[in-house]
Order: sequence, then structure tokens, then C-alpha cells
Amino acid sequence: MPAAKLDLSAPLAADPATLPDGNSPDLELVIAGPEELQHCNLLNFASWAGPLSAEAYLRREEHLYATGLSQNGGLSSWMLVDKNDQKSPRTILAACESFRKRALVASRTAREVKDSWAFGIGSVYCREEYRGKGYAVRMMAELRKKLEYWQQKRGLRTDFSVLYSDIGKKFYAKNGWIPYTSSHVSLPAKRSVQQSSKPRMLVTKDLAELCQKDEQILRQVMNDFSSQNHDFRLAWIPDATTMQWHHAREEFLSLELLEKFPEIKGALMESANGKSTWCIWSRVFSKNQKENVLYILRIVIEGEDHTGERVDSEHVEQIAACLSAAQEEAAIWGMSSVDMWNPSPTVFAGCRKIHPASEIIHRDQESIACMNWYGERPGTERVEWVANEKFGWC
Ligand SMILES: CC(C)(COP(=O)(O)OP(=O)(O)OC[C@H]1O[C@@H](n2cnc3c(N)ncnc32)[C@H](O)[C@@H]1OP(=O)(O)O)[C@@H](O)C(=O)NCCC(=O)NCCS
Repeated sequence: MPAAKLDLSAPLAADPATLPDGNSPDLELVIAGPEELQHCNLLNFASWAGPLSAEAYLRREEHLYATGLSQNGGLSSWMLVDKNDQKSPRTILAACESFRKRALVASRTAREVKDSWAFGIGSVYCREEYRGKGYAVRMMAELRKKLEYWQQKRGLRTDFSVLYSDIGKKFYAKNGWIPYTSSHVSLPAKRSVQQSSKPRMLVTKDLAELCQKDEQILRQVMNDFSSQNHDFRLAWIPDATTMQWHHAREEFLSLELLEKFPEIKGALMESANGKSTWCIWSRVFSKNQKENVLYILRIVIEGEDHTGERVDSEHVEQIAACLSAAQEEAAIWGMSSVDMWNPSPTVFAGCRKIHPASEIIHRDQESIACMNWYGERPGTERVEWVANEKFGWC
């Protein structure tokens, strides 16, 4: 018997007039069941499928679901529903997802760095027919409460959650997610870049060891309590599991769209004293091919002055060589540019070296990094976000 054809039409909308108000006591945030999850994806497909068909988009979501970041409860798919809705599947009033991720939190007063599980939030969605009724705002308020103790050891709270807003700085700030610096530098893709020294190109099997090294360096950076400018500092751990999730996305899209596997994942330069500079990247494909971008997920410069006060010329040379290799890789893949988020002064100097017109762009609408700090006295504690780079995005 032939397999039943998958129904790819979005679920029909209920008459909005029959639905509860956004601040009704009958609304609750629940975990979506498998069929409901498929409905969420069929609804948000229009916003996020990019160049993929509905069928390929559902397959990509399954592919991502199989990654280490999503497995074992890493991914939670939430939806706002009416408690009295007895149907199966239930009517989805709004939906979103959270990823549990490893993080470090440093307290200046306690002079300690602790490991933490925090949350990245993504795919915030309300179907067009239900917009403007307050469902998204209500969902975020419920999510904020829910995540505080979600998947923590008994009695413990999480420290923070993060999201990357594509709708400016106000919507999420009203709900407790405060915008942080969201800048980037964009280098044009460029073929046959002349380089005196060529970096080593990185492939998947190189990443686990480099990520471990990166984590050790980051722990040292977080352990420096000399600055008086903050009470707490936080950082996502740029681990191999996180990189693998980004690479699962690019691999799926590369194979689907171009039937080509993206072998090269980054570039590394080693200096005479054995210290290294490297970057890890991932290709991001858009509906409009001209907007495809090679994103630098993470840059590590061993021995970099993390206060940003001192820029070492050898580091600048090394990062310039790695970024030149990224430009070349972007050109090979027909991409428009190489983008990196919140570059340090050393990284920016490297950009200027290979592209003197480089400038730091501050975004005010898309991919705004926003953070909700639970803390002891939220709103009064000064919290610095360390290593706020693209790898943290979800
Ligand atoms: C963004 C979205 C979830 C809002 O859903 P919604 O149910 O209409 O939102 P609510 O009714 O709860 O909230 C309305 C408030 O949000 C604001 N808002 C809604 N959409 C907005 C947008 N695209 N940009 C900025 N603000 C927006 C409204 O101005 C209104 O503000 P006010 O209360 O100060 O008047 C919905 O438009 C959507 O799903 N969009 C497509 C996907 C998307 O962009 N998601 C966000 C990714 S970061």
C-alpha cells in the first residue's frame, strides 16, 4: 500500500471572536505534542523556511531535533492554549521553543564562576489571524515564569534566558528581555585572496578539541574579577554540541539546495609560541541567494587582552589571515559576505587590515541579543554578557 501523503496545509484557524482574551485566566503554557508540534511548524513555515519547501522545512526540523542540543529534553516546544480546549490537537494561540544550554555565570561579590543551565528562546510565533490579541505577550510572561525552575536540580533556579529579536528592541524588553549590544562587521566575499601565510582549514573532527580549549580559556576570562563595571558576568559555553547544531542546519541546507557538503568549518593560525587564533563558521542560506552569508560563529585568540585595551599586532595578522580564508570560502560558495557579531578591538583591527572600509554596524531591528536575568535583585544588578557571538543564536 502506498504511504499516506503528508498533509502540508496549515491547520485551519478558529474564528478569533470565539477565542479567549490574551489576559484570560484560562490560558496556559504547555508542551506541544507531536502532532501539535507539526502544526506549529506548518504555521511558522511562512516566516522561517527561507528557501525550503514546507516538506523540506519539516524534514529540517526533524534533522535538528536529532542533534545533541535538542535531544534528552534539550529542546522544549511550548504553546499557549486555552485550558478548556479538549480537542486533539489543541488550538495553538501562540508558540515558541526553548533550548537548555550550558553557561557560565561569574559573581563579583562571591568571586566565583559557576556552571549553569540557561535557556535560549526561539521561534516566537502567533498566526496572523490571532495577532493583536495579546497572546504573544502573555506567552512570554508565562514562559519567563516557567523557565525559572525548568529542568533545574530540585530547588535551584536558572540564572538567565536569552533570545534574538527580529522585531526590534521594545517588544521583548516590556517582558523582561533587555537588549544588549548587537553589532556586526560584514566583509565582502572575495576569491583568491593573496596571503603571506595560509591558515589551516578546520573540519568537523577538529572542533571538539578546539571547543574544549576555548572553554578553558573562557573560564579563565570569567575568573578575572578586576573590573568594577559589573556585578555578574555570563556567557554561553561555546561547546561542540552547540557548533554541531549550527552545522546540522548548514549541512541540511547545503545538501538540499546545492547537493554539496560543507566540509570546511573554520580556519586556524598557529604562532611561533604555540598559541593559536581560530574561527569557526557556518553558512546561512536565505530565500534570496544574494543574501547568503558565511557567519563566523566564534573567534578565539589565545592570549588576547580581553579588556580590549591592548591590541597585539601579531594577533591582528593572525585573525586577518583566518578572516581572509573565510572570505575565500564565502566566495567559493557564492555567498555575499562574511559576517561576525560584536567583534573585539583586535578582531575589528583584523577586519580593517583586509578590508579598510570595514565598519561596525549597530542593528536596531534584527537579531537583537536580549537577555532576561533572574538574579537576586533583577533590575538593580549590572550584568555583562561575555562572548556575545553568533554561536549563541538559536
Ligand atoms: C511578533 C508576534 C509573535 C506578535 O504576536 P501578537 O500576538 O500580535 O502580539 P501581541 O498581541 O501579544 O502583542 C501586541 C504588541 O506587540 C507589538 N508587536 C506585534 N508585532 C510586532 C512586530 N512585528 N514588531 C514590533 N512590535 C510588534 C504590537 O505593537 C503590540 O504592542 P503594544 O502592546 O505596545 O501595542 C507575531 O506578529 C508573529 O508571529 N510574527 C511573525 C514571526 C515573528 O516575527 N516572530 C518574532 C521573532 S523574534
